[in-house]
Amino acid sequence: MNNKICNTDIPFKHLFRGIVSFLPFANQIYGKIKGDSSHSCSNPRFCYSLWLRILVTLNNNKLDYRLDNIAEIGNSSSIGVGLVALLTGVKSYSALEVVKYQLSQKSLNMCEELIKLFRNREDIPDDNEFSNINIQLDSYKFPTRILTEKKLSVLLSENRLNQIRKAILNYEKNSIINYYVPWEYSLNNIRGSFDLVFSRAVMEHIADYPETYRKLKTCLKPRGFMLHDIEYHNHGIGTHWNSHWCYSNLLWELIKGKRSFIINRSTHSMHLDILKNLGFQLLSDQRKINKSSINRNCLAKRFKSILDIDMNSYGGWILAIKK
Ligand SMILES: C[S@@+](CC[C@H](N)C(=O)[O-])C[C@H]1O[C@@H](n2cnc3c(N)ncnc32)[C@H](O)[C@@H]1O
Repeated sequence: MNNKICNTDIPFKHLFRGIVSFLPFANQIYGKIKGDSSHSCSNPRFCYSLWLRILVTLNNNKLDYRLDNIAEIGNSSSIGVGLVALLTGVKSYSALEVVKYQLSQKSLNMCEELIKLFRNREDIPDDNEFSNINIQLDSYKFPTRILTEKKLSVLLSENRLNQIRKAILNYEKNSIINYYVPWEYSLNNIRGSFDLVFSRAVMEHIADYPETYRKLKTCLKPRGFMLHDIEYHNHGIGTHWNSHWCYSNLLWELIKGKRSFIINRSTHSMHLDILKNLGFQLLSDQRKINKSSINRNCLAKRFKSILDIDMNSYGGWILAIKK
């Protein structure tokens, strides 16, 4: 273990960016440099893999579930995961975002690619293809026990596919695909609506994530589920994947500056504790372990007492039910 990291691992590039973000007009400068972001979920195979992993995980937990209405928080510029869900029989998908994107044409193309994957009964793309999905399965075979031939013949009928295609072109005003941006302004419309709320690579970016969990809870039906796939690593800030837990609050505030979507430095246990405190029953969780290369002594005061297992948790997922 290397003690020197305590003094040397200051992410100067990010510190500079954070400080610059306090300046007037910084947003315009950085907005121009950043351009349009493209996330993993713009890849149809990624969306197919993520949703089928979620579906198999719900089944593996032998849950008595019904997925009529589901929501994804932080879908970014793609509704691909929602389209996969619709193709597996979900009745309505709602995207809960804070940034508004134009979705129609690329969603139509995405939908056709996804239909091909289902028609070929394609196996679930595994970690060799997408190591950035934390939900892991014992088998990545196409889940024929959940998606039987009988079910698929209805789900992939032209009638049903046309309903979905039509919904894509009309996503703001129909009950198959709904897009809420900013979703928190629509809480009254979606209260008690969903059987499942899920996310990937989102809950680590929300500053007040406990409050977001609380709001999401109100959107769930009684005995509704939450499944969140969360990254705990530094997102490139610092040399070691967990350097971000070594920075003092002051240094972190400067690195963060006025940027909205920087990581919140949470650990797996912090998410578990919040969900428990909100009255959720934890059903299952898994951590992606990556052995820490920093010394516990280097942790900032705020993180001194985190568990060893949290120090080694690079990512993870949590499945919980509203009691
Ligand atoms: C890293 S991207 C992940 C996108 C996508 N889930 C994926 O896996 O490719 C994080 C997304 O979370 C969204 N986000 C951040 N804070 C949010 C909030 N409070 N509510 C809803 N979405 C939020 C951002 O706009 C961004 O689209």
